[in-house]
Amino acid sequence: MAPSSLIGAVRERRRRKSASPGARFWARRGRIRHESHEAARDRMRVLFVCLGNICRSPTAEVVFRAIAAREARDLVIDTDSAGTAGYHIGAAPDARSQQAARRRGYDMSALRARVVAPEDFERFDLILAMDRENLTVLRRRAPRERQDRIRLFLEFAPDLGTSEVPDPYYGGPNGFEEVLDLVEGAARALVAHLRRERQAQPV
Ligand code: 4NP
Repeated sequence: MAPSSLIGAVRERRRRKSASPGARFWARRGRIRHESHEAARDRMRVLFVCLGNICRSPTAEVVFRAIAAREARDLVIDTDSAGTAGYHIGAAPDARSQQAARRRGYDMSALRARVVAPEDFERFDLILAMDRENLTVLRRRAPRERQDRIRLFLEFAPDLGTSEVPDPYYGGPNGFEEVLDLVEGAARALVAHLRRERQAQPV
């Protein structure tokens, strides 16, 4: 029977993977030496996706990481971000995004833009698009059996009253504040969702 939750699905995949010859090879090589069996089983990988990977998705990456570290220390979550377009590959986040984020205590300076790669659909358990346009592009690029990993980020925060994070690139400074407001709200909601799921799962 298909697991009904994200964490349930992650555990099922890890269970299958850890029984595979590849996993036994890496275990022998010591690659997973530092991670407890329980942490490895529950490790979750989340990818945030926008168009250029210099404004919205890197903001979501740093904000989600900070909120998860503060509010859900029991969850083991890897985060990353990418763009559906390659206009800014290798570039640091937009200076306006960085400044707005810094004023709220988030440091984006180490991030560099990249494009979504085919392997991302295998590596990440959850692939969160900032808007419908990028959701459509992701769905078109992903194999059929990975479609269920692709969602809208704001789906997890229905109380925000909107389902998309608007593109701030060609707008004024308010757009960058709006991105942060939406992303902070959705990151909190996603962390709370994952915590509830974790608590509801049998150990
Ligand atoms: P992002 O914003 O998708 O939030 O990173 C954009 C960045 C660059 C462009 C468009 C949107 N651009 O057209 O170069």
